Amino acid sequence: MALYSEKVMDHFRNPRNVGVIDDANGIGEVGNAKCGDIMKMYLKINDDEVIEDVKFETFGCGSAIASSSMATELIKGKPISEAMQLTNAAVAEALDGLPDYKMHCSVLAEEAIKSALDDYESRKK
Ligand code: FES
Repeated sequence: MALYSEKVMDHFRNPRNVGVIDDANGIGEVGNAKCGDIMKMYLKINDDEVIEDVKFETFGCGSAIASSSMATELIKGKPISEAMQLTNAAVAEALDGLPDYKMHCSVLAEEAIKSALDDYESRKK
């Protein structure tokens, strides 16, 4: 069996939603201290609390890039209540799995989204 699924390779080679949202109203940045990889997530959330747009920048391994790409696809157009529930396991499952030792890369995607949602909440106050 190949180490990485077709979906991982696809999202690594053609990542969706890469970039920056200039007028984002939720921005989160997280890192993994062990590998040094960094992920930044930008959310544009509308008045109905729906994620209208999402973009990311990932300075990291292929699994982290594929995870961020898939995670953005899973939350785009979704209410923030739903995005808050997204787990790294769901991201990995949507990618048809990640090797065990690469699961932490999908954790980065979950954390980046939660951090951007926290930022959105704190800006509202
Ligand atoms: Fe660091 Fe994948 S090895 S996020």
